[in-house]
Amino acid sequence: MNSPDYTGDFSIDPRHIWLNVASEGPIPKKAAEALSEAVQWKLSPHLLTIPKFQQIPLELKRSIARLIHVDGDDVILGNSATYGLHLLANGLEFKKGDEIILLQNDFPTDILPWLSLEAKGVIVHQLAAQKHVLSAEELARAINHRTRLVCLPLVHSFTGFKLDVTAIGRLCRAHGILCIVNLSQAAGAFEIDLLQWEVDAVVCAGYKWLLGPYGTGFCWIKKELRQQLDYAQNYWISLMDEASLNSEGALTLKNDHSARRYDVFGTANFFNYVPWTASIEYLLSVGLDNIERHNRLLVDQIIQDLDGRFELVSPRAESERSNIVVFSYKDPSQNFRLFEYLKAQGFHLAFWKNKLRASPHLYNTTQHIERLLLALNNYAA
Ligand SMILES: Cc1ncc(COP(=O)(O)O)c(C=O)c1O
Repeated sequence: MNSPDYTGDFSIDPRHIWLNVASEGPIPKKAAEALSEAVQWKLSPHLLTIPKFQQIPLELKRSIARLIHVDGDDVILGNSATYGLHLLANGLEFKKGDEIILLQNDFPTDILPWLSLEAKGVIVHQLAAQKHVLSAEELARAINHRTRLVCLPLVHSFTGFKLDVTAIGRLCRAHGILCIVNLSQAAGAFEIDLLQWEVDAVVCAGYKWLLGPYGTGFCWIKKELRQQLDYAQNYWISLMDEASLNSEGALTLKNDHSARRYDVFGTANFFNYVPWTASIEYLLSVGLDNIERHNRLLVDQIIQDLDGRFELVSPRAESERSNIVVFSYKDPSQNFRLFEYLKAQGFHLAFWKNKLRASPHLYNTTQHIERLLLALNNYAA
């Protein structure tokens, strides 16, 4: 089966095959054009008109909302996935003895923000999962009446295993436990419909599968949960309207729990948010179903054609896997050498925890993967 070739929508140097979107995604040409326009505004600041300060974040929120099927008014703009987790970890009220469940060996983003709560007597469990992500059964065994919150990745960065978010969300909801999910290795790679999930908040980095510049991210927090946040974030652009900006009187704080209030400062971040909006619009125009189909072909090809000298760490079963393929040479002491050998030939994978990680996205082609496999299978230790 063939899939369209999207390489023309990008400007990647053809001598380099980028198979590491799980670390950093390239911006598409459309985003580079949008960025050039934003640079023009800064070159000639009369173009940087006041309405743009409202319009740019609004447009980005609208694009993110279409991507994950939520209301744009509930989207919080950030600079990372960590940003949203910090809002939650620092803004929600926790009592001594409350318990939080995380995944051991998750990407540190999902763990570090919660660890500060240990100083307040909150017990943070990092549970080891048998198959790299927690199953609903494993989670059910770990929860008790003190469990307040669970924070897990939809796709595990170091193995590509995918969480059964439907079952996990249902379990959490049934026990009144907050369920927070990190979409960083998933959003932009396949369809995500928050309307179908029972989760309370999601966070996501913008510079991976969403093809945004580095320093982008978003967070969505269910309205009722957002209203419980006690987090002093008082930014003039978010909180003040035109009338209050023009008043000479003393300022007062509004009791405002809109998503906008929690946006990262400098929200009209033109050089990052203008191209990121264009990237998300590009992904939406290709269609998440088409992207998913395309990427599945590439992943299938890697999984099927790796020769017997390699061990697949990622799952084979389609229901468990994602667009991340992690593998190891049978003799793991060779892995770093293999990684360097591939890089020297222009194949850019990631090297984490002494394993190789390939993460192809829509700008990759079946020819790229054929060439990668040829290089791998010709590797002589
Ligand atoms: C699951 C996951 N979340 C988040 C990040 C990055 O975090 P942040 O955007 O907070 O720097 C990564 C990076 O690889 C990741 O794999």
